[in-house]
Amino acid sequence: MRTKFNNLPLLAIATLSLIGLSACSKKEEAKAPEATTEAASMHAADTASTNSVANEVAAMPAAAGDAISEEDKEALGKLPAPYKDADLANGKKQFALCKACHSIVASEGNKVGPNMHGLVGRKAGTEAGFTYSDAMKASGKTWDLATIDSYLKDPKGFVAGNKMAFAGIPNEKNRRDVIAYIAVNSKK
Ligand code: HEC
Repeated sequence: MRTKFNNLPLLAIATLSLIGLSACSKKEEAKAPEATTEAASMHAADTASTNSVANEVAAMPAAAGDAISEEDKEALGKLPAPYKDADLANGKKQFALCKACHSIVASEGNKVGPNMHGLVGRKAGTEAGFTYSDAMKASGKTWDLATIDSYLKDPKGFVAGNKMAFAGIPNEKNRRDVIAYIAVNSKK
């Protein structure tokens, strides 16, 4: 047994470090009930630490689910109205429509559409390495939240002749939510 453990393959070590965060979260959860029998201040401290671990897990793509991290909530709160009141979970859901053609993660580069990292505040038609239509390059737009809204409301009408093969999002609330999701996530 001893020899076997001494020769733990590197793969197992890598796996262990990958699940480290969730293991840590479990440990914190296991600690919490114990704390209820201790002094109230101890309990509060333990709960706070449990929450912070939970938030870290929520921020991880694989474990994210619909949970919104504290960091995202804070970024959301700084957006102008009506975006600061958006439903980020619904925004994430709506973003699935865009994901077929756009990535919001810088390292994933351009797909059928240009990469969306840093989209908010960017001049239209300027993402490096993407072949835009002449219409998009000449549109003179800058992607602030309201401009993105107008584009998603009517992609063909807002930038005549652009090549995004997407009908848009007619529902105002869904547009608000997906734009807030983009605003919060395009800066990470
Ligand atoms: C079927 C593929 C496809 C889908 C789906 C799609 N897009 Fe696009 N998008 C494109 C293409 C292609 C372009 C480039 C248009 C051009 O050059 O004329 C583009 C351009 C854009 C631009 C301009 C970016 C820039 O760098 O100037 C924005 C903003 C945008 N899309 C937002 C969205 C959002 C938000 C969604 C989802 C709600 C979405 N798109 C869904 C293909 C798509």
